[in-house]
Amino acid sequence: MRIVTAKDYDQMSRKASYIVASRVILNPKCVLGLATGDTPKGLYNELVRLFRAGDVDFSGVTTFNLDEYAGLSPENPQSYHSYMEEHLFRHINIPPEHRHIPNGAAQNIGAECRRYEELIEQAHGIDLQILGLGRDGHIGFNEPDVKFEKGTHHVRLTQSTIEANARFFENRDEVPKSAISMGIKTIMSARRILLLASGPEKAEAIRGAVMGAVTPDLPASVLQLHPNATLIVDEAASAEIMRIK
Ligand code: F6R
Repeated sequence: MRIVTAKDYDQMSRKASYIVASRVILNPKCVLGLATGDTPKGLYNELVRLFRAGDVDFSGVTTFNLDEYAGLSPENPQSYHSYMEEHLFRHINIPPEHRHIPNGAAQNIGAECRRYEELIEQAHGIDLQILGLGRDGHIGFNEPDVKFEKGTHHVRLTQSTIEANARFFENRDEVPKSAISMGIKTIMSARRILLLASGPEKAEAIRGAVMGAVTPDLPASVLQLHPNATLIVDEAASAEIMRIK
C-alpha cells in the first residue's frame, strides 16, 4: 500500500481530489466507486471546485456508491442517495443515469444485491474506488467478522457503527440496523483504491490496516493485498504508524 501523508483534513482532501481529477482527465469515461460519511466531504468540495473552474468534466463518468441503509427510501434525507445529491451530484455534471447507489427500499434485498453486482460487471468494473475507514476498521459496511464477505450483500450493522452513525439522525432509534454494501471482493476488484483517513479516532484502525495481520476482524487490512492501493492519511490519523516507524 502506498502511503501519502497530509498535514490535516483539508490537505488530505486536496491531495485526494488531485488523484480523482487526474483519473477523470486521463479517462473521461472512467468508473468511480464513491463513499459517504464525513471523510470524503472535503474531497467532494474540491471536485466541485475543480469542475466549476472548468478543469474537470464529469459528463462521461459512471459512479457506484459503496453502500446504502436498508429500509430508507432514496428521498429520505438521511439516505446516502440524499447525501450524494447534496455533497456532489447536484453540483457537477455526472448524468443521472450514470449514477448508481443500492436501493435501500428494495422489497427483495437479495435481488437488489445481485442486480447491483451485475451493473458493476456490465460497467467493466470500478477504475478507482474511494474508501473511508470505520473506527473498527470497516470499509463500506463490511464490519469485523470471521470471514470476508464477497459480493454486494445485506449486512447487519454493529453497535459501534450504529453509535457512530447516530450523529446523523435526530434520535438513536432512527438509525437503521442494516445496510446493503459492496463486499470485500467487489472492493478488491477495483483497479485502484484510494483510502482516506483523518483524525485521531482513526489512528488505531490505520495501524491495524497498514501494519497488522490481514484479517476479516479488521476488514481494511485486506487492502494490503491490493496491487494498487493508496492511503492518504493526515497527521492525527497516522500518529500510531509514525510512532512505530
Ligand atoms: C460510507 C462507508 C463507511 C464510512 C466509514 C467512515 O459509504 O462506506 O465505511 O466510510 O464509516 O465514516 P466517516 O467518514 O464518517 O468517519
